[in-house]
Amino acid sequence: MLENSSRRQWLKQTSLATLGLSFSFRSMGNEEGLVKFISPGKGLINLGANENPYGISPKAKQAILDMTGEANRYQFNVASLQSFRKSLGDYYKVNENQVIVTAGSGEGLALLARHFNKGNVVTADITFGILPNTAKRLGTKVIEVPLTKEKVHDLPAMLAAVNSETKLIYICNPANPTATILKGAALKSFCEEAAKKAVVLIDEAYTDFLDNPENESMISLIDKNPNVLVIRTFSKIHAMAGLRVGFIIGHSSLISKLQPDYFQSSQFAVSNLSLAAAMASLTDEQHKAMSKQKNEAARKYTMDEMKKLGIDFIPSYTNFIFYPVKKYSGEYASDMFDKHKIILRSNKYADGQWARVSIGTLEEMKAFCSTLKSVAA
Ligand SMILES: Cc1ncc(COP(=O)(O)O)c(C=O)c1O
Repeated sequence: MLENSSRRQWLKQTSLATLGLSFSFRSMGNEEGLVKFISPGKGLINLGANENPYGISPKAKQAILDMTGEANRYQFNVASLQSFRKSLGDYYKVNENQVIVTAGSGEGLALLARHFNKGNVVTADITFGILPNTAKRLGTKVIEVPLTKEKVHDLPAMLAAVNSETKLIYICNPANPTATILKGAALKSFCEEAAKKAVVLIDEAYTDFLDNPENESMISLIDKNPNVLVIRTFSKIHAMAGLRVGFIIGHSSLISKLQPDYFQSSQFAVSNLSLAAAMASLTDEQHKAMSKQKNEAARKYTMDEMKKLGIDFIPSYTNFIFYPVKKYSGEYASDMFDKHKIILRSNKYADGQWARVSIGTLEEMKAFCSTLKSVAA
């Protein structure tokens, strides 16, 4: 006999399965590890999805309210939204015909996996899963190059893995789930070299959490390197994960090939409200600075506490920390959820089990650290 909560969960999963939704639901919430149905509840600390706990900019909130009157219109009929690509272009110092706006960068990553579905894709092992997993589902060969022992992209090995069949090279910088970075100069020369052979895509989802000069974007390469693409999101520093806005920047010659593919598959996928919010948030430097600063303080607190507790971790440059739990015999994230109501991710890799915790508010990280003391890993 199933207990009530398991029974409810089983019923929910069964009905999702009946609707054909269970797979996407499970994979959606669990890019790197734990497969778990998460129901909202009291006392849960959600440190599982690298979300920004500080909420959207007040200017974005107002923009959403103001846009509700235009919710009946397609976005091409709303005058203020027609300049969104131009606003993004102006902000990043590129032309509007160098920008594709997608429903979160996840949609952009899937689009790129679908577009480059011949030959092979070169990426790291481990890395953020949407692009390589989509490619694999489409039957595209994915060459996964192990990270170095410091859990950093092995650029020389990745370059060596590129062959005449390679169509796309995917690098996430800062990297997920490891929270490491590549130095600008090294990544630049890699891009310039690799772009002679295939399209190089740099995923800069977390770049806004970095200090200068580490947050050197590869956007600066695009004009001279038509094979370099950068993908960004409003989900992280802008705290808009639920609003689904991302974008791809590239050379106009490549963007003009991708754009028709995108519009055929998901024309106008981003809502008017989301676009209005993104437009308002784009230039709200104060709100971004607040998020960055609070994240930095909570991250420093967490890393200092982990050091004091003698818990090993990879030094983080982002809004999450990756740490080994190799001696933990159970499913770490599953137990953290069941026993401590903390949502994080864990996964078993070739070198053992690792966990990833997102940086929440300072209070949440205090609760997380005091739990860490009681969990032997
Ligand atoms: C590296 C990286 N890229 C892209 C995404 C997708 O984010 P979104 O689809 O919300 O823009 C994520 C989400 O966590 C991520 O970690």
